[in-house]
Amino acid sequence: MTKIAILVGSLRAQSINRLLAQTLEKLAADDVEFFYADIDLPLFNQDIEADMPERAKALKAVIKVADGVLIVTPEYNRGVPGVLKNAIDWASRPYGQNSFKDKPVGITGMSGGQTATAQAQSHIRNTMIYLSTKLMGRPELYAQFKVVFDDNKQVQELSKQFLQDYINALVAFIEENK
Ligand code: FNR
Repeated sequence: MTKIAILVGSLRAQSINRLLAQTLEKLAADDVEFFYADIDLPLFNQDIEADMPERAKALKAVIKVADGVLIVTPEYNRGVPGVLKNAIDWASRPYGQNSFKDKPVGITGMSGGQTATAQAQSHIRNTMIYLSTKLMGRPELYAQFKVVFDDNKQVQELSKQFLQDYINALVAFIEENK
């Protein structure tokens, strides 16, 4: 059994990134278990990191029990959504208790635009390298909504194999590196 914690970088009810995450979940093999981390956390404040909010502790606990992490994020203004960066900052603290250390991590994301979260993913890659994760370099998955999903939010046949290959590669990477 491979356990993967998913961090969706959007709190929006109709998030296309959550839809992408759920689609990857469906395409994965039966012996892969996914659980969605809650990243709706108070703003990080170093004054309270030693006695951090329960929700931040819960996020650290979810990452700890997972064999690997999958980040599925939108791009906001050519960068990482604040809510996701805030959650990553909490999980990286207190000093010496970085929950991401040595974790296998994959990053993907979906947007309406053609650049398909490339810059947001690039920024998170920098952060994940700094946090001493085992980061999957390739394959990459930069997803544009209309290429992946049809008008009924069903996966387009042409994109299905691409998503399948991505999740298979991530599971194999996590198994090799957990
Ligand atoms: C966006 N969007 C966006 N898209 C993109 O490709 N590059 C960008 O830099 C931005 N910037 C941006 C900023 C803000 C504040 C918002 C709200 C939106 C559009 C974005 O791709 C679109 O809203 C997605 O649907 C957001 O993902 P979720 O919430 O549906 O998962």
